[in-house]
Amino acid sequence: MARTLITGGLVITAAEETPADVLVEDGRVVALALPGSQHWSADQVFDASGKYVVPGGVDAHTHMEMPFGGTRAADTFATGTRAAAWGGTTTIVDFAIQTRGSSLRAGLDDWHAKADGNCAVDYAFHMIVSDVNESVLREMPGLVGEGVTSFKLFMAYPGVFYSDDGQILRAMQQAAELGALTMVHAENGPAIDVLVEQALARGETDPRYHGEVRRALLEAEATHRAVQLARVAGAPLYVVHVSAREALAEIAAARDLGLPVFGETCPQYLFLSTDDLAAPGFEGAKYVCSTPLRPKDHQAALWRGLRTDDLQVVSTDHCPFCFTGQKELGRGDFSKIPNGLPGVENRMDLLHQGVVEGRISRRRWIELACAAPARMFGLHPRKGTIAPGSDADLVIYDPHAVQTLSAATHHMNVDYSAYEGRTVTGRVETVFSRGEVLLDRGDYLGRPGHGAFLPRSSCQYL
Ligand code: URP
Ligand code: ZN
Ligand code: ZN
Ligand code: ZN
Repeated sequence: MARTLITGGLVITAAEETPADVLVEDGRVVALALPGSQHWSADQVFDASGKYVVPGGVDAHTHMEMPFGGTRAADTFATGTRAAAWGGTTTIVDFAIQTRGSSLRAGLDDWHAKADGNCAVDYAFHMIVSDVNESVLREMPGLVGEGVTSFKLFMAYPGVFYSDDGQILRAMQQAAELGALTMVHAENGPAIDVLVEQALARGETDPRYHGEVRRALLEAEATHRAVQLARVAGAPLYVVHVSAREALAEIAAARDLGLPVFGETCPQYLFLSTDDLAAPGFEGAKYVCSTPLRPKDHQAALWRGLRTDDLQVVSTDHCPFCFTGQKELGRGDFSKIPNGLPGVENRMDLLHQGVVEGRISRRRWIELACAAPARMFGLHPRKGTIAPGSDADLVIYDPHAVQTLSAATHHMNVDYSAYEGRTVTGRVETVFSRGEVLLDRGDYLGRPGHGAFLPRSSCQYL
């Protein structure tokens, strides 16, 4: 029976912050007590005085090894989950993909094969449905039974992942029937494709036009439509990677009506902007993702949404493509730049800047990064909190350490950092996954295969 004791830290959960010693036994948290009040014996003791003890991060939106834009996301499950661990994230929920014309089963099997035996941290899957038809609808109950309890549909990317409104409605009805959550990428893809063609015809080929054609209004319009379709279907709705203030307003309006509508944003939308997309030369390609980065003044609205609970979750949408050889596929045509940003390693630290800058409380930081995604995606109470019985997925976090984010020091398998040179306050010091030490003061002790597949229960709406 392996016993670990973490002493003297400030234990922060979504619900409270308390100075406490934490006792871990056989991979689970077994008890918390006032510092020094118990004389627990342990095989190993970690002194967390002056530090925070927080739940391991839950990143509910990653794309390891995703085939996209004629190439493949550069992090494998091995490299991407290792980077996650370095950043204090101990659970990822990745998107398995149904290829057009194929089954959900085949897509899910494919994702299990990629992840099995390779992950450093625990993982679960959502399913991307790119071909809604009768046989796919019949497959959905089986997936829910296997713990894949959320389905992503795309209003964007015609010809790739796109579903029309009828297909989305049908999938939402089926998901609602099964108690599963519908996730939607809300951008009006067909309208965007018209604007892309017109921009290219005018010779507007630079990365910054990616942001211009993917208009905020077309994110807002699709978000509005997704909400109405979900209402008609009687389905809860989770809008992924919200970047436009106008789209956030649609979510806020739906929530004000009491509808089960939820929203996620990502660090790139809180810290980066169209200024980055407009970087000189072809540098802007590093910042091409969808939904796109918005003008800086959208950031305040997103932070406000995080404070007021109009947005519930911060995930990364980690989908890294190297600048050399991958982003470069779109030189001379922004529409050929593979969409996606690296970030799985940076989420906990970047969101912590919200605490440092007084935008969110420490508890809200943990709620957005750990507790809410765990509840939303059926991983609570094992993940996202620190309580007797929960998995000992824990992070000792030094809130005062200062670090500079850089590709030279990060662990993601990508040749640039979207946050190159940015100084952040706070740093992950020690990471435990089910009681095992993955990282301790710069020493990486994790291994591929430690991470296990997590079948999820149905989502617990917040
Ligand atoms: O640009 C992005 N977000 N790439 C990943 C795919 C998606 O739409 O989430
Ligand atoms: Zn998306
Ligand atoms: Zn709350
Ligand atoms: Zn995504």
